[in-house]
This record gives sequence, C-alpha cells and structure tokens, in this order.
Amino acid sequence: MILKKNLVLIGMMGAGKSTIGSILAKKIDYEFIDIDDKIEKFQRMEIAKIFKIKGEENFRNIEEKISIKYLRDNGKVIALGGGAFLNKNIQSLIAKNHVSFWLNWKNITIIRRIRRNRKRPLANKLGDEDIKKLIINRNEFYAKADYKIECENKTKLEIVEKIIKNYEKL
Ligand code: S3P
Repeated sequence: MILKKNLVLIGMMGAGKSTIGSILAKKIDYEFIDIDDKIEKFQRMEIAKIFKIKGEENFRNIEEKISIKYLRDNGKVIALGGGAFLNKNIQSLIAKNHVSFWLNWKNITIIRRIRRNRKRPLANKLGDEDIKKLIINRNEFYAKADYKIECENKTKLEIVEKIIKNYEKL
C-alpha cells in the first residue's frame, strides 16, 4: 500500500493548527500528531517550563529532533509548533516529502487569540506591536508553504474542507 504524504499545518501561535488538525485527521481518517504535545510528553515538561529551565535554543533542538522523527512517517496530519517551519532541516524535509498548509489570519485575530492563553512563553513577554513584528517576520517563512489557507471569516469545517480539496488534487 502506498501511504499518502503527510499534511503539515503551519502558521503562527493561535492559528488553530491543533484544533483544525484534529478535526481534519478525523475527517480523512489519518492519525493526528501534535508536535508540541509530543515535545511535552518526551520531556515530561510543559513547553513554558522547557523555555524557562532549558532556554529557547534547547527547545528548538528538541523541536527539530521530534519534528523530524514524525516527518519520517506518512499518512498523518501533523500540527507543527509556530516556530518549527523556520528551521531549514524541517522545512526542506516537508518540501521534499509532504504537503504544507499555512493557516493564515489577520494580525489582529492572531494577537487576540494569543492573548486568550498564557501558555505561550514567547508571546507572553511581547507587547502587541512586537507580536505584529514577529508575525510579519514569520510570514516570510510561512509563505513557502505549498498552500496558503485564508482562515478569516471561515468556520473550522470550511477551513478543513479547503485543505482536503487541495490535498485531493495532488
Ligand atoms: C512557538 C509556538 C508554540 C510552541 C512554542 C514556540 C513559536 O506552538 O511551539 O511556544 O515559536 O511560535 P503553537 O504554535 O502551537 O502555539
């Protein structure tokens, strides 16, 4: 049996990668992998604590290792952490073997969503203007995804259907 390419969801914190990924995986009957969850299980520590105790650089190394481990498989829906696609090794592996979808929202929506949840160490220390700068900077990387999904004003199901439509065309 030929297993199909992984569907990899990328985008900013708060873009809904985990929520959309889990609905999408159920709909197409693929396994869902949330890389942030896997990191927390592997380290037996919450991401905020990893940042605090081990620092961001260490977190990025763990993130690379775990992401690459799951990107070796096929037929999965994978939600990456917001910073993972900036890593050249992760990015090139996805470009070579998988299909990537950038969940894009207006800056204001992302900021509002990020503020709702204090679990994100990177965002907690930033003001709204700095988050905006981070989004603009990150968008350059996210734009390398195979598909850009405009999420604003769409329901979760509409977003999922848009992703499936593009995936089925492959
Ligand atoms: C990060 C995003 C987080 C998590 C970590 C760093 C980032 O994941 O990996 O806090 O650099 O954007 P989510 O995008 O799932 O929030």
